[in-house]
Amino acid sequence: MTHAPWWRHAVCYQIYVRSYADSDGDGVGDLRGVLARLSYVAELGADAVWLTPFYPSPQADHGYDVADYRDVDPLFGTLDDFDAMLAQAHRLGLRVIVDVVPNHSSSDHRWFQEALTASPGSRERARYIFRDGHADDAAGTTTRPPNNWRSVFGGPAWTQVPDGQWYLHLFDPGQPDFDWTNPQVHAEFETTLRFWLDRGVDGFRVDVAHALAKADGLPDIDDPLPDGELEDAQTRGRRPYWDQPAVHEIYRRWHRVLAAYPDDRMAIGEAWVGTPEAMARYVAPDELQQCFNFHWLEADWSAQEFRDVLAATLAAVEPVGASPTWVLSNHDVERTVTRYGGGSVGLARARAALLAMLALPGSAYVYQGEELGLPEVDVPPVERQDPQWLRGGGPSRDGCRVPMPWGGDEPPYGFSADGVTPWLRQPAEWATLTVEHQERDPSSTLLLVRSALRLRRELLKSLGDKIEVLDRGSQVLAFTRPGPTGPPLVCVLNSDTVAIDTSDLGEPVLRSHPAALTDGHLAPDCAVWFRD
Ligand code: GLC
Repeated sequence: MTHAPWWRHAVCYQIYVRSYADSDGDGVGDLRGVLARLSYVAELGADAVWLTPFYPSPQADHGYDVADYRDVDPLFGTLDDFDAMLAQAHRLGLRVIVDVVPNHSSSDHRWFQEALTASPGSRERARYIFRDGHADDAAGTTTRPPNNWRSVFGGPAWTQVPDGQWYLHLFDPGQPDFDWTNPQVHAEFETTLRFWLDRGVDGFRVDVAHALAKADGLPDIDDPLPDGELEDAQTRGRRPYWDQPAVHEIYRRWHRVLAAYPDDRMAIGEAWVGTPEAMARYVAPDELQQCFNFHWLEADWSAQEFRDVLAATLAAVEPVGASPTWVLSNHDVERTVTRYGGGSVGLARARAALLAMLALPGSAYVYQGEELGLPEVDVPPVERQDPQWLRGGGPSRDGCRVPMPWGGDEPPYGFSADGVTPWLRQPAEWATLTVEHQERDPSSTLLLVRSALRLRRELLKSLGDKIEVLDRGSQVLAFTRPGPTGPPLVCVLNSDTVAIDTSDLGEPVLRSHPAALTDGHLAPDCAVWFRD
C-alpha cells in the first residue's frame, strides 16, 4: 500500500488567534488561550489546526503585517507559550500549521526601515519594490505612481517616500511587497521556514501565495476596478501581479526545504486564482502539498454550481496526482450562514454544504465558529477595524472575526474574563450559540459537526478517493464514494424548493437537519449521508 501523508485526508480547524480565546483579559485572543482550548478541537474530531499570524506586528492588518517572522508578539504571548501550545497539540494528536506571510512584511520590519533610510538603488531598497514615479512634465518632476495598480484595500498600490521614490504594496501601505527576484528574500524566508520547522510545526499556510512574482516591467492593467469592488475569478486571471509563472519556482524551492524534514511536513497555498487548472499548478508533485479550492467557497447556494466546481476540480487535480482541498469559510469572507441567505434557511444550507464538503475525498478546512453555525455579525461602522473597509477597498471582514462564544449567557461568553469587552463585541443573540449551549442540544450544529467528523474518520478506513457523481436533477448534488472494503457512502444535497425522492439510496447515517428526511424524501436546503 502506498504511503498516505497525514494531510491528504485531514480536516484542519482554522484558529483566528485574535478571536479564539483570551487568557490574559486584554480582550484579544492569545496563544495561552489557544492552548487552553485545544482539547475542544480534538474533541470536535479535527486532525490539525491552522493558526493565523501571532508574530510581532503593529497589527495594521491584524497580524498579516509581520515585523519579525521569528518571534511572538507580546499581544499573543511568547515563544515559550508557542512551544507549550505546540507540545499540547501534539499530545492531543493534533498537527499544527502556522501562517507564513511572504508577499509583504510590515513597514515596521527592520529591512523596510533600513530601506527607508537608504538611498534609491541601494541594496536595502532592492529587497522591496521601489521605483521612480512617472514624469508628467518636461522638467521631469515626478507626480504619478509608477503604474496604475490598485491596492486590494483601496487606493493606489504605491506610496511615495520623501526622496520621491514609490514603493509597492498590494495591500495596506503598512505592508510593503518584497522583491522576490532578490536572492536575499529567498534565503530569508527559507531561514524562517526552518526556524518553525525546527520548533516542530507540521506545516505552513502560505498567505497570498499567488502574489509573490510580478510580471516583468510591472505593466499597467487595462481594467482597474473601482475602489469598493472585489475581484472575481475572471479579473484575477489577468492581473500582472497574481499567479505569474515565476511564483512556482519559489514553491519548488520550499518543497525541497520541507522534504528535508521527517513526518510529511506540508504547506497549503492561499491562491485566489482564475481557474481550477491554475490552482492545480500549485500542487504539482514538486510544489505545495495543498491549495485552497476557493472556487468551491465562491459557489452560490446551488447544487448546479457545486457540481460544476466539483467536476472541474477533480479534472484539474487528477493529472498532477494531487488531492483536492475544500473550504467554505475563513477570516476573509462572509460566513456561510449569511452568505446562503441568513436566518434559519441560511443555517440549514450552511449545515448541508458543510456535510457535503466533509463527504468529499481529500482534505477540508473548517473555520472557527463554522461548527457553531455562527452568522456574520453586522459590526457597527464605528467599531470596524478591518483596513479593507477603512480604506474603502471592499466590505468589512470584521463580521466574520467576532470572538468565539464559549459559554454563559452574556458577552464575552467565556472568550475573555467576565467584565472584559473583546476587541470586537459579540451580539446578545449569541447566548444560544455558545459551545456550552450547543453541547446540550442534540440538534445543534456543533453536535452535527462532531458526528460528521467521527463518522468521516470511521469511513475513511474503508473508502477510497474515487467519486461518482449521480444524476438526480439539476438542483441536486449527489455523489457516491465506493469503498474497496465496505459499502459506498452516498451524499445528497438538495438546493431545490421541493423535496426529492432518495428512498433508493440506502440507509441514512447522518442528516444535516433533524427533519431532513420524511418518507424517503429529502427536504429542500438539506443534505444526508447514506450507506448503500
Ligand atoms: C490574506 C489574508 C488576509 C490578509 C491578506 C494580506 O488574504 O487571509 O486576511 O488581509 O492576505 O496579507
